[in-house]
Amino acid sequence: MEYKKLIKEHYKQEAEKNLLSLASTMADQNTRRLEIENIVDLLEDDKKCLEVGCGNGSASIEISKVKKLDLTCIDFSTELISLAKKQPKTGIKGKIDFYEGDILELNYKEIFDVVFTERCIINLLTWDDQKKGLEKMSDALKSGGSLILLEAFNDGLEELNNARKDIGLDQIKPAYHNLYLNKDLVIEYLKEKGLNFIKENNFLSSYFFGSRIVYPALVLANKQEIKYNSAFVKYFSFLPSFGNYSHIKILVFKK
Ligand SMILES: C[S@@+](CC[C@H](N)C(=O)[O-])C[C@H]1O[C@@H](n2cnc3c(N)ncnc32)[C@H](O)[C@@H]1O
Repeated sequence: MEYKKLIKEHYKQEAEKNLLSLASTMADQNTRRLEIENIVDLLEDDKKCLEVGCGNGSASIEISKVKKLDLTCIDFSTELISLAKKQPKTGIKGKIDFYEGDILELNYKEIFDVVFTERCIINLLTWDDQKKGLEKMSDALKSGGSLILLEAFNDGLEELNNARKDIGLDQIKPAYHNLYLNKDLVIEYLKEKGLNFIKENNFLSSYFFGSRIVYPALVLANKQEIKYNSAFVKYFSFLPSFGNYSHIKILVFKK
């Protein structure tokens, strides 16, 4: 697959730039904190879990400090997974293992109670590959197990961009290495594979409304620079979430 080379190169650079840091693949640390908190809320102690596309493992480690899991993490980036293997495991409650592997070549059959991603399926740059990735994760789940997709979706991006347009801000476009998902197609496809859609969590909606609409408007008016990790922006991350103003969201399914 031609695009794989491009994606691997992107993450090689990410590995060189951000090493073991939680900023790896997510510069915005409010988003990162909310991602971890919301994944943790969906996990239970003593479950056998698979994380697909774990990157440098920094978020996997933080999750493992809160929940006692038997967690297997895979990623196809040689550089990121070798960093993940170097993450200090101090303070983790259960077990965590990191392996180099491609989601499209996974061969797990009904082994895990939970399979989850944090922005990995969007790196599969065709809908056919995205479907294959979803199928591989579904195969890895035991009957009754949960699939947690923390991914980026077009519907949230559209609402965010509509609101930005209303106040004269330009449109946000997905990065070259991402193909955002169509929520309805994902739900329909997973239903065919025997997974029922349980819920959607738009946990970043209020934060994105504040940080990607209100804040940039103020910054532009005052001719300042965008700083998502500023004290001002952090405030929005503490608001209860409402609406659908973020492309990043969580969908939960049950097998
Ligand atoms: C946006 S990053 C997120 C990484 C990590 N979940 C985090 O939150 O920092 C997406 C990850 O998916 C991995 N990835 C992309 N395509 C993959 C594939 N086909 N198989 C396994 N991992 C893949 C990338 O190497 C990258 O680490």
